[in-house]
Amino acid sequence: MDMARVFHMNAGTGETSYANNSLLQKKVLSLVKPIREEAISSFYREKLPRSLAIADLGCSCGPNTLFVTYELIEIVEMLSRDLNHESPEYIIFLNDLPGNDFNNIFKSLECFKQKLRGQVADDGIDQCYITGVPSSFYGRILPACSLHFVHSSSSLHWLSQVPEGAENNKGNICITKTSPLNVQNAYCHQFQRDFSLFLKCRAEELGEGGRMVITLLGRSSEDLSCDKSCYIWELLAKALNEMVLEGIIEENQMNSFNFPFYTPSSSELKLEIEKEGSFTLNHLEIFELSWKAACGDDEELNNNNNNDGYKVAQLMRAGTESMLVNHFGEAIIDNVFHRYQHILADRMSKEKTMFFYITLSSTKTT
Ligand SMILES: C[S@@+](CC[C@H](N)C(=O)[O-])C[C@H]1O[C@@H](n2cnc3c(N)ncnc32)[C@H](O)[C@@H]1O
Repeated sequence: MDMARVFHMNAGTGETSYANNSLLQKKVLSLVKPIREEAISSFYREKLPRSLAIADLGCSCGPNTLFVTYELIEIVEMLSRDLNHESPEYIIFLNDLPGNDFNNIFKSLECFKQKLRGQVADDGIDQCYITGVPSSFYGRILPACSLHFVHSSSSLHWLSQVPEGAENNKGNICITKTSPLNVQNAYCHQFQRDFSLFLKCRAEELGEGGRMVITLLGRSSEDLSCDKSCYIWELLAKALNEMVLEGIIEENQMNSFNFPFYTPSSSELKLEIEKEGSFTLNHLEIFELSWKAACGDDEELNNNNNNDGYKVAQLMRAGTESMLVNHFGEAIIDNVFHRYQHILADRMSKEKTMFFYITLSSTKTT
């Protein structure tokens, strides 16, 4: 599967769009705010750059896209006032794969700048230059030493490709407890290659002392097929396998499909950072979020299992539909997610189901 051509979150603002189904990722962004705040503040106090260049990698499209940019500008503006220092100009790079709905982001920029001007910086419009960078972050996307701050949230668990050698992962669509050892190893090696390339490219793009804060889905144990990280995929595979049994999907179609998705443990991440050698890890934090975090704050609805199943299915649909359509065709999609919704509702009513996240804050040193 050619990720750059195929993969994108669901566009627009409709019922199945990422914009409408990204509450979980928004909660993740909010939880990581203190770590970003520490990183940008200590960088800014130390360097006081005239222009501050920030990249958000895997920015997607929707209410989360400019959330971090707004927050970082707000923090730097407050610091500038406290330090009695002239505000910097902001150069913001919003990166995602080319299939991302960049047009929707561009259409919202004037409104965003007006909000900045109204609420954060009086002359915000002139001082904030925002550019889209449609390219894979598993490669160089910006000139050498052009960045001060790199941010990425809920994106780096996506690999650059489905690993080669994962062909015998029959009945599964990702690593699970029943995946053969060679499949687990193929995923693990693909992650190591991708993550070390990501670090190398960011090290080239960041100036010395530049900061990077990344958050991704991870694994709580060293066991590659530990329950928590693969359960949500096992349940999606269950829906697809039901459809194989009913003759709606062909078995060999199911057996030849895998998602390019991997959840590393914190020690795997630390090891890759040490091996690559350009970054000092300042802080690593792990946190868990219930699957219900995808369901919003409406208590009445949240105690409704069907609504929980629906919201989590929609969350997964917004992120995976492009790849499923590419492999299985459009006709089966509503059916898959209808089944998935009921499977999820059932499991969520009986078990405590959690996502496990890892945040790393690091400084470019060499
Ligand atoms: C779940 S969304 C997260 C969006 C946003 N950061 C947030 O927190 O809501 C993951 C994004 O990462 C992007 N992505 C995945 N692999 C990528 C790659 N290799 N290069 C650039 N973007 C990528 C996807 O296209 C998607 O928009």
